[in-house]
Amino acid sequence: MTQDDLVLHARDGAVVTLTVNRPKALNALNFDVLHALGRRLDEVAADSEVRAVVLTGSGDRAFVAGADIAAMQTMGYLDALAFAQLGNGILTKIEQMRKPVIAAVNGFALGGGCELALVCDVILASTKAKFGLPEVSLGVIPGFGGTQRLARLIGRNAAKHWVMTGDVYSAEEAQRIGLVYHLHEPGDLMDAALSTARKMAMRGPFALAEAKHIINRGLQLPLSAAIELEAAAFARCFLTADQREGMTAFLEKRPAVFTGH
Ligand code: HXC
Repeated sequence: MTQDDLVLHARDGAVVTLTVNRPKALNALNFDVLHALGRRLDEVAADSEVRAVVLTGSGDRAFVAGADIAAMQTMGYLDALAFAQLGNGILTKIEQMRKPVIAAVNGFALGGGCELALVCDVILASTKAKFGLPEVSLGVIPGFGGTQRLARLIGRNAAKHWVMTGDVYSAEEAQRIGLVYHLHEPGDLMDAALSTARKMAMRGPFALAEAKHIINRGLQLPLSAAIELEAAAFARCFLTADQREGMTAFLEKRPAVFTGH
């Protein structure tokens, strides 16, 4: 097994599936896995033929059960800082990628694994999935953005309940609070994720990228500033051939064929 096998890559038309592949450790993230994920993300970001990404975990037990506890056990301050910064850099690649990334959570998404799902654009999960930020049980706190992204997603108090109890939650609960968009039977999850990815891959790539960017960026801004940014992004779409194609195709009652230009 090479380092690149730590994150598998499968291509189906315009959709790439990336699979964190360390099933014996429930796909726990160590330095090597994070670097492999970073390389895969760079590849798909640079490939203009790829229009949507599905991220999942190997095996039927885990999406990612967290950062690797064995690797963290002996870390000191500087190692811990470097590890958190490495992870944050990789997760930010997902946030900043100008393509949709769908998390297909097939089992445990704990700690860094939950944080990895949180940074994706859409979370779909199997009914068997489990979510949580159990770091306080290990004497630490989440370090890949979990405290901040969870609080922004589900609100301050719900996030504090999650982070400060370290509890593990069912897929149903994760869906109830809006973390997960759809639940699927375990055997149906990948088909559902791929079908969502294929649907997004048929939309205008520039519009998708702008929509993702403006939602992420706008959530960090006051509403009035965010709405101004939205207007500018809307106008930018009119610099593309895809805007003409999308609207012409509608008027000609035919499916649009987008090129990403
Ligand atoms: C390293 C892990 C691991 C992890 C599981 N394993 N999670 N190894 N790091 N996060 C390994 C186990 O040691 C075991 O290896 C194998 O995977 C199977 O796990 P079991 O514990 O035997 O399975 P089970 O009893 O079914 O329990 C599943 C589980 C439990 C509930 C998911 O494994 C668990 O609690 N894992 C830790 C979850 C966690 O605390 N995550 C947050 C980590 S902190 P062996 O060799 O014994 O078979 C974090 C910080 C992020 O993520 C920020 C960093 C900056």
